[in-house]
Amino acid sequence: MEFGKMLHGGDYNPEQWLDRPDILDEDIRLMKQAHINCVTLGVFSWSVLERQEGEFCFDWLEEMIDRLYREGICTILATPTGGMPHWLTEKYPEVRQVQAEGRQNLPGKRHNFCYTSPKMRDLTGRIDRSLAQMSLRHEGIVMWHISNEMGGNFSDSACHCGQCQRAFREWLKEKYKTIEELNRAWWTVFWSHVYTDWEQIHSPVPHGENLVHGLNLDWRRFVTCQMTEFLKWEIASVREYSSLPVTTNFMYFFKPLDYDKMQRELDVVSWDSYPFWHKVKDETDMAVKAAACHSMMRSMKKKPFMLMESTPSVVNWRVNNPVKRPGMHMLSSMQAVAHGSATVQYFQWRKGRGSFEKFHGAVLDHKNDGNTRTFRDVADVGGRLAKMEGRILKTCNRPEIALIFDWENWWAVEDAAGPRLDLDYKKTFLQHYRAFWEAGLDVDIISMERELEGYRMVVAPLNYLYRKGYAERVERYVKEGGIYITTYWSGIVDDNDLCFTGEHPLEKVLGICQEEIDAPGEGFVNSITFLEKLYHTGDLCEIIHCKGARTVSVYMKEFYAGAPAVTENRYGDGRAYYLAAEFEQDFLNDFYREMTQEARIENPLGAKLPYGVTTALRKGEEDLIFVQNFNDCKVMVKTPGRFEEADSKIILDGEVWLEPFECKILTEI
Ligand code: GAL
Repeated sequence: MEFGKMLHGGDYNPEQWLDRPDILDEDIRLMKQAHINCVTLGVFSWSVLERQEGEFCFDWLEEMIDRLYREGICTILATPTGGMPHWLTEKYPEVRQVQAEGRQNLPGKRHNFCYTSPKMRDLTGRIDRSLAQMSLRHEGIVMWHISNEMGGNFSDSACHCGQCQRAFREWLKEKYKTIEELNRAWWTVFWSHVYTDWEQIHSPVPHGENLVHGLNLDWRRFVTCQMTEFLKWEIASVREYSSLPVTTNFMYFFKPLDYDKMQRELDVVSWDSYPFWHKVKDETDMAVKAAACHSMMRSMKKKPFMLMESTPSVVNWRVNNPVKRPGMHMLSSMQAVAHGSATVQYFQWRKGRGSFEKFHGAVLDHKNDGNTRTFRDVADVGGRLAKMEGRILKTCNRPEIALIFDWENWWAVEDAAGPRLDLDYKKTFLQHYRAFWEAGLDVDIISMERELEGYRMVVAPLNYLYRKGYAERVERYVKEGGIYITTYWSGIVDDNDLCFTGEHPLEKVLGICQEEIDAPGEGFVNSITFLEKLYHTGDLCEIIHCKGARTVSVYMKEFYAGAPAVTENRYGDGRAYYLAAEFEQDFLNDFYREMTQEARIENPLGAKLPYGVTTALRKGEEDLIFVQNFNDCKVMVKTPGRFEEADSKIILDGEVWLEPFECKILTEI
């Protein structure tokens, strides 16, 4: 990454303390103690930067940037558009978002303006350009942070105002050209919903149309597009003066926005990670989710990403907010680095005294200065990053396996009124991901639009919708030697959400055809054997027929006993597998272990890992292996090889012992 060092820092809001110079002095002193080398300034500072329309006041900010820089702390400068000043909403009420029910938001909160509004573009463009112009005077600024968690407004990310309806119609016109073509794509003859004029089209809303799947899918695409256009607008505004890299902070698996599309506008992908640690005794589930997100952010550009926010201790927005247990802060920070992060950043440096986030975890609490467990934990992370950065920055993860995760599929598969109404794509995806995590294999997580070449194995769970050209790319991939694994309820609709007719688009590659899909009721548990072990099926069992594929396992019960449940097909130089049913986690773990062993893909320790332990590999001239123990107890990994601890140079011969919540960084010797 461009910075030449690993960034350790976080959101800093000196504007909340401008009347307390003593606090600001203290901040700088303590930042240095905690090995903080960067801060993010300006997030939500609009009302202090522009007190009235056109009345800019950047002095405090400029002074702060220079002061920090003199102390060796660089600034990521945010455009302040995440929250709107009251003068703005008062003067231009049309920028306030309209909810799906038709009610317009009142001023307040954040992330709640209309992304289509030309007025909002004027206003954001002006402040962004002014900040960019100002930035030229300050060497301390290293990057732009555009707005904040775009679309994350606690309810619907979209705006349904008249301006948005018009923009949606224009977007549809551009896409379909004629209303007849739109009617065809949306299958509107059903229930007599043929549109005869573009003006009849309205966004999907609870009290109106929301059952036309093509409309729902296009609306979601449009929302991503509008948000991306807004992002591009802000980027273009700062670019008028500044050529510094840009990012915007993404959230977790955030369904409303197709991040894979948005990220194309950014120089660096960054995200805010808030796993619910210590929710239950077994941290594995949470560790798997966080790891998947880190991997996904890295895979978007196949290069290091930034952990833009994380909490040094607690959050304040869950029903119960456990503090991080000893070890967890280091482990969760290192987990991000293990999966490709080049930074560890926090929300927030110092707790404010009032309003909604006054009890949200921060490096500094209201009391005790640096004399807290949290502060010491943060300083430890900073110290370790500083010590290791020269080695870590020369590496990046290069997994041999990719899992397909695609927003369009997510939207469509959960919208479909099909075999079950409670299909959960993310959950299903994470079950497959977990099998690799437990085996200590990091994977890339990519959308259907990405290159498959270069991966030894590609896994596409619950891949219901096929985007244009996807089937052809999978076919080529398998023909040329790839291993492709997919599941039930895959290849059902095209990218208009229209069902494929005739054969499955990958019939030749998979060597099967699908007939029925059963969502059995309670008490109808089916089972299969795989490598002589018995496994149960889950909520969906597809009834398929082999058309060239070899049956690996069959259903054991019901009228479809004997029908294939797992198949393998050789195609060209590669192989394709079909898992016709949903299976318990145990099966997925064993199945993928078999698949990876056959393909000679193993974790970087070449070891069987205890439960709750995983590894991730950052490759470079020197490979770094991150061994992470998410158990609250000491564990040992038996390794065939010898390793050296990168931090301490201690040699580990055949046994790697890990303390509770410890992450060791190893090199093979
Ligand atoms: C993030 C947001 C921050 C802060 C944090 C609290 O979603 O970007 O501004 O609100 O959550 O967890």
